[in-house]
Amino acid sequence: MTELNKLALKILENGKGILAADESTGTMTKRLQSVKIVSTAENRILFRETLFSSKEMKECIGGVILYDETIKQNASNGKNISKFISDIGSIAGIKVDTGAKQLAGSPDEKITEGLDGLRERLKEYSKLGAKFTKWRGVYNISDKYPSKLSIDTNAHALARYAALVQECNMVPIVEPEVLMDGDHSADDCFEKTSAVIKKCFEELILHKVDLSGVILKPNMILAGNDSKNQITNEETAKLTVKCLKESVPNEVPGIAFLSGGQTELQATENLNLINKFNDTNFIMSYSYGRALQQSALKHWAKDVKDIQGTQKVFDHRARMCTLAAQGKWSKELENN
Ligand code: 13P
Repeated sequence: MTELNKLALKILENGKGILAADESTGTMTKRLQSVKIVSTAENRILFRETLFSSKEMKECIGGVILYDETIKQNASNGKNISKFISDIGSIAGIKVDTGAKQLAGSPDEKITEGLDGLRERLKEYSKLGAKFTKWRGVYNISDKYPSKLSIDTNAHALARYAALVQECNMVPIVEPEVLMDGDHSADDCFEKTSAVIKKCFEELILHKVDLSGVILKPNMILAGNDSKNQITNEETAKLTVKCLKESVPNEVPGIAFLSGGQTELQATENLNLINKFNDTNFIMSYSYGRALQQSALKHWAKDVKDIQGTQKVFDHRARMCTLAAQGKWSKELENN
């Protein structure tokens, strides 16, 4: 067992999942403005530290993905944020892509940037305490998209990123996100997500990435937001497991889903069903941003001094997601 494999397993052991708290300052500003909080560096770390110091972090959250600003900030006790997270028993990670930009040659699609100077940035993040990383490729679905150009170029970038990350002894989260936006069917989502993931692994293998030291972060299989033909949660779970079984090599230790605009409840219930139907060797857990933070953020915004109340809301979400990652979640537990 390699060190990277051990680390990937440790992040996702015993139903633990990942807290994606790596919103860029622009995205975090939108989230804070939506609940009428001014987006200052102090407010951003205040909310995040409130989550990081909550009770269920130790048992439920195996890793926290940070943003560049946050990994350079200190907690209120003066400790560097990654040290603060590791003292709790979790592991700090870092988003290293620099965002999705218009793809030359197919301007309605995106290519994720950030490879230039990445080796040097990784060394810096490693010194700051990061043990794993994230890079998100993003794809939209329509009749003609994602194009071969978008599938190939994003897979190439994800593979070059993952190879550099492993060279620096960190675990890369490989995130190809096929978006929920649009009126496409779940079958379209299945077909296109499968093509995207298969191409990613083809490139990862070409770039000699150790697949046992990678965490895949995919979307679930869902009909588009505007589709009239929504499918049941059972169907989502079955199609998601089928897609991953057919597209992901066996060496990969773990899969941690993004929530991608699903409600907190939907993301939890779907993950629970996925684990009920999971007949693979992959750990299937979560790496949620919105589906872990939304209610906590709303609560906090009503009274930013109510740290305990905010933590209670977050702790419940984290516990429910961890139960779902073990296939042990139920509506009764949710409502208790
Ligand atoms: P959501 O769970 O809000 O989709 O965020 C996860 C993430 O990290 C997207 O890159």
